[in-house]
Amino acid sequence: MSESLSETVSLSVVDGIATVLIDNPPVNALGATVRKGLVAAAEKIASDTAIKAAVLTAKARTFPAGADIAEFATGMTDPWLPEVVNTIEALEKPVVAAIYGTALGGGLEVALGCHYRVAAASAKLGVPEVQLGLLPGAGGTQRLPRIVGAEAALQMMVTGKPIKAPLAEKMGLVDKVVADDALMDEALAMAKAVMAKDGPLPRVSEMTEWTEKDRADSDLLDKFRAEHGRMFRGVIAPDHILETVRAAIELPFAEGMAVENERFMTLFASDQSRALRHVFFAMRETAKVPDIAKDTPLIDVKSVGVIGAGTMGGGIAMCFANIGIPVTIVEVKQEALDRGLGVIRKNYENTAKKGRMTAEDVETRMGLLTGSLNMEDLGDKDLIIEAVFESMEIKEKVFSRLDTIAKPGAILASNTSYLDIDHIATFTSRPEMVLGLHFFSPANVMPLLEIVRGEKSSDSVIATGMKLAKAIRKTPVLARVCDGFIANRLMYPYIDLAIEMLVAGTPMQVIDSAMRDYGFAMGPLQMLDLVGLDVITFPAEVNVTGELVKLERRGQKLNGGFYDYDEKRRGTPAPAAIDVVDKVRKHRGIAGDKELSPEQVMAGLLYPVVNEGAKILEEGIAMRAGDIDVAAILGYNWPAYQGGPMCWADIHGLPKIVAGLEAMGQKPAALLKKLASEGGSFT
Ligand code: 3HC
Ligand code: NAI
Repeated sequence: MSESLSETVSLSVVDGIATVLIDNPPVNALGATVRKGLVAAAEKIASDTAIKAAVLTAKARTFPAGADIAEFATGMTDPWLPEVVNTIEALEKPVVAAIYGTALGGGLEVALGCHYRVAAASAKLGVPEVQLGLLPGAGGTQRLPRIVGAEAALQMMVTGKPIKAPLAEKMGLVDKVVADDALMDEALAMAKAVMAKDGPLPRVSEMTEWTEKDRADSDLLDKFRAEHGRMFRGVIAPDHILETVRAAIELPFAEGMAVENERFMTLFASDQSRALRHVFFAMRETAKVPDIAKDTPLIDVKSVGVIGAGTMGGGIAMCFANIGIPVTIVEVKQEALDRGLGVIRKNYENTAKKGRMTAEDVETRMGLLTGSLNMEDLGDKDLIIEAVFESMEIKEKVFSRLDTIAKPGAILASNTSYLDIDHIATFTSRPEMVLGLHFFSPANVMPLLEIVRGEKSSDSVIATGMKLAKAIRKTPVLARVCDGFIANRLMYPYIDLAIEMLVAGTPMQVIDSAMRDYGFAMGPLQMLDLVGLDVITFPAEVNVTGELVKLERRGQKLNGGFYDYDEKRRGTPAPAAIDVVDKVRKHRGIAGDKELSPEQVMAGLLYPVVNEGAKILEEGIAMRAGDIDVAAILGYNWPAYQGGPMCWADIHGLPKIVAGLEAMGQKPAALLKKLASEGGSFT
């Protein structure tokens, strides 16, 4: 008989063993009712003499995947998770955690409060709090170092990456790994075996072997920090984690817990954690399209055609081959086709060289790709993606031809970066089947896929696009039609104004380093050098990138661009680029004596991006501010810990941004002004 202890926790007893079951879909997060239920379960286990041992587990998808992140925004109620874990650990009867799915964050901390841990072979265990700008706050920072040692604990907490059950067993984090379908039987068997044992229960908080060893290694923590410097850059949580581990090594458990709690609260209140929590939910929300019914029929995509085997077409074809969908790639010339397929093979072979796929995988994937010079071969494809040159004339030729070839019901997509999808749809007799699928370069790597919804795109076509994005492991962001859609349009001002600042007198290294300090991996001019200056077109007749390209300076790929590069790809400001900037100044009759401070560079580049984001939102190009943030983070590597441009703007202060834009002579978008004056926010 099962007894309900709260809305989400129940307990049943068979042969003296209590099974405590958490049932809080979708991921059994440790919300208030679960915490209450667990405390009630502990009381019951302690007081009921018929119970000799317990197994703690969860229902359906997974062992708890952590604290309830949604609850963080509304405030947490008693009992707090650290107390819950301590209460379980303090029991005088053995508790076995039966772990499967993803035991993450608070979930793993609950398991560490149990006296024994059995894990299904496919289970993953981890402490991903750092990705939310937090640290494990339910004893994880104190128990992990005691059970796996400081170094392994730091590795898990600072990277946030989960480990697989067999490795967890090797590290001593779990006692036994068993076949997935034997988990409950094995956990119950273990409970039965240990309930007969005499002597104190193994409590992780009382383990001393690792802490004694780690205490003797006086520079362990400094060494870890030095070796993993990159993970500490810009973000504050890793240093806090390091200090909690220091406490775990040096202090008694209870004092260490106090350090953990204090630092957890500091992080919890930080802008970085606020931003990262926003990103967590925004990433999961992008796929939701409120005006498309959940039961909208999806179109089955079992075969794909790609037109154009250039930079984008090749990467797009790989996305589908990677999930086992056959792709026919159509080109105009044999030479271009051979080159395209050659690049794909090389990409796969490089991955194989790094040990991330086998030689056999390479052949399997190449076997899914068929080259063709004949568009007629696309007649039976379910989805056809065009990735030819960015010219409306060529797109017209391709789409009007495609319309005569593609079977009824096929989805027709364009990968255009800027062109009008509605106009492209008019080249066909079936505009409802047309949409934009805007990949980012390199298409096989970049995680963002903009789904561009034309005026006439059918709900089925859009819903299928959103679903397909997930299938090829991308995050979809829905955009309406405009020049540049969301991510590119958002970043126009960023790139444009960086070049303007350079011409007006701020040295390139000042501009780039200001944006690196903000958190970008590289500054805007460095980014231009990386993507290639020939890819960028600017309208003015004499302009910096155009002049550089005329000098055959195309960026890192050819002769350098703004910077000259050594063999290790380290850049120094290029004298040739400085000359070009001088030439542009002379041409435009400006002195080039307006040098900005790093703070001015930051405001000068970021405020206009926020303003563009506000316009994208008010025009309905993006559905939500969070979608814009996700597009910037995944498409342009906007630092996630800043939350993306819109969340950052909210934190930075909208009135400050309005005033800043006005001072720069730019007109704030109506939505931005309105929110600023009402004390509102984008996110
Ligand atoms: N709290 C609240 N909701 C959560 C959640 C959590 N910890 N984890 C996942 N969810 C929700 C998601 O928002 C999503 O909701 P939706 O369907 O309404 O959009 C749903 O669960 C399913 O999540 P995913 O779409 O991400 O499903 P996947 O199968 O792709 O991934 C997962 C599952 C690996 C568990 C992934 O959701 C994940 O990584 N979750 C976060 C884990 C985490 O960060 N845990 C630490 C929390 S902080 C903590 O524990 C603090 C403690 O130390 C005190
Ligand atoms: P690319 O120049 O590398 O490749 C285009 C390919 O299309 C060439 O191989 C060409 O031979 C082929 N082609 C031209 N006309 C054709 C036709 N009628 N039939 C079959 N093949 C034809 O160009 P890239 O960079 O791959 O761009 C393709 C599209 O993707 C453009 O619309 C571009 O705006 C868009 N895009 C480009 C991105 C980038 O970073 N390069 C990013 C996102 C979108």
